[in-house]
Amino acid sequence: MTIQFLRLLAFCAIAKQLLLKIVAVSQFLFLLAFLEISKRHLHDAREAFQFLLFLAFCAIAKHVLHHIWTVKLFLLFPAVYAIGMRLFQKSRNLPPSPFLALPVIGHLYLIQNPLHRSLCWISRRYGPVALLRFGPSRVLVVSSPDAAEECLAKNDIVFANRPCLLAGKHLGYNYTSLAWSPYGDHWRNLRSIASGEILSANCLLTLSTIWADEVKSLLHRLAKSGGRSVNMKSAFFELMLNVGTLMIAGKRYCGENVGELEEAIKFMEIVTESFRISGATKMGEFLPFPRWMGLKEVEEKLMTLQKKRDEFMQSLIDESQSGGGNEWPEAAEGRKKKTLIQVLLSRRETEPEYYKDETIKSLMQVVLTGPDTSATTMEWALSAMLNHPEILKKARAEIDEVVGHDRLVSESDLPKLPYLHSVINETMRMYPVGPLLVPHESVEDCQVGGYRVPRGTILLINLFYIQNDPRYWPDPTNFKPERFEGMEGVRDGYKMMPFGSGRRKCLGENLAVRTIGLTLGSLIQCFEWDSDELIDMTEGSGPTMQKAQPLMAKCRPRSATSDLLSWA
Ligand code: HEM
Repeated sequence: MTIQFLRLLAFCAIAKQLLLKIVAVSQFLFLLAFLEISKRHLHDAREAFQFLLFLAFCAIAKHVLHHIWTVKLFLLFPAVYAIGMRLFQKSRNLPPSPFLALPVIGHLYLIQNPLHRSLCWISRRYGPVALLRFGPSRVLVVSSPDAAEECLAKNDIVFANRPCLLAGKHLGYNYTSLAWSPYGDHWRNLRSIASGEILSANCLLTLSTIWADEVKSLLHRLAKSGGRSVNMKSAFFELMLNVGTLMIAGKRYCGENVGELEEAIKFMEIVTESFRISGATKMGEFLPFPRWMGLKEVEEKLMTLQKKRDEFMQSLIDESQSGGGNEWPEAAEGRKKKTLIQVLLSRRETEPEYYKDETIKSLMQVVLTGPDTSATTMEWALSAMLNHPEILKKARAEIDEVVGHDRLVSESDLPKLPYLHSVINETMRMYPVGPLLVPHESVEDCQVGGYRVPRGTILLINLFYIQNDPRYWPDPTNFKPERFEGMEGVRDGYKMMPFGSGRRKCLGENLAVRTIGLTLGSLIQCFEWDSDELIDMTEGSGPTMQKAQPLMAKCRPRSATSDLLSWA
């Protein structure tokens, strides 16, 4: 590309010289002609006037030629700037990047939504390690398992930070919540409390009755649907929201048997608003002046939303502190289980300076961020199975064989259902909810793919590209759970990592795998699913990979297992 441009420059310079020569020669010829014509033909005033007009035309033509050159020079300037930047970049051994980074916006002119799809084009053109500029920010786009491993294993600590984006500022308590907090003591503390007090294997075992009950409640609702079309996106989302709020405060806010209706309405308003706004924080937030780029309004909405969320979470803490709030008396194995708020408040008694309200609210957010990702994965999985009835049939045959028709699938059955697990894996391969993981940022200079990556570079791992790359996944656009058969429990390197990897890996993986497995297993076991026409698998344009159209599906209780729904 550089050589081509140098050739173009040389051509322009020669063309300019030629043009100037042509102008000089024509001026000379005009002069000769003038003398000759005036000698022979300039007999009257009319001819003299015409001749003057001709001379004026020649003068204007010369001027125009000159201006064309000036315009060329003007156009040439950004190109010279780009070449200069490129040579400078080469001399610093930076990763390859698209030729023209415009002043102020950088490479943002190349980007469209959804972002991961635009970045696939960049990876195909510039290779597995490419450097972009989003406004003033440097962005490293990584799209191969080897390069991902270099970032998330070899340079794990270097890339353990998060960039300062609008969502982290306004919804992440000014970058102090677990997902947005910079790598350091505060983040380590939050992570160890979350994994020890909320999401440890022991806690999940104790709380497993929560999602078992919620799945039964969904079966109940579907059994009563009478074969009418049900919005499965909302059904999955409400199930996961109830799991989250039950873990936090012992309360359900969606569906039937909602305790406090007014509180539930307020909660659902906040959830709906969060969705609307998260889709609105787009590429402009990388620019140095987001307020001028129409993001002022988005920022104000984020602040209003955060105020409502904060007030809501505070009211739950206050209620628990004053002795109110619910408990989980019927946790698995007869254990008494306190809600997350109660556990954290009891910790406050020994470490009051750390367990402030704000820390407790940050930890509550951990559980409230998960529902969307798990629900979306279930929606993609059921959609894919409805489009492939043979896969649904095979998964059902496995469940019938392992569980039978006399009882519902339970969590302890999941390890014995490898095909169901393969269906979930194949869904997360083709439709990863976090197609670029969550952005990381480097805290010091490092090497990736043999290139130098300066500190302060934002890292985007294009998981969607890696997990759909035909070099690692033959026939990648075909939904084929069989490709995972025989790989149970085997980690497939960095070719497949829907939950990320390294220090900032997803904390909710265990919870997500259990709830998704149990829900899908129960739906397959108990219902016949009708799919008259193919489900539209088009994706939306937001930062997480959502279906563009919600899944609407019809189901009828299966005759073989209808007794299991007799309580419905
Ligand atoms: C199918 C379900 C889920 C998927 C696909 C998923 C995926 C991810 C991904 C890709 C990341 C970013 C990893 C990185 O930056 O390298 C992440 C982070 C995170 N996830 Fe999940 N997640 C799911 C469910 C959950 C659930 C249920 C919870 C909570 C109960 C949760 C809590 C978190 C937290 C707290 C982080 C931030 C970790 C940190 O920054 O240290 N996730 N998740």
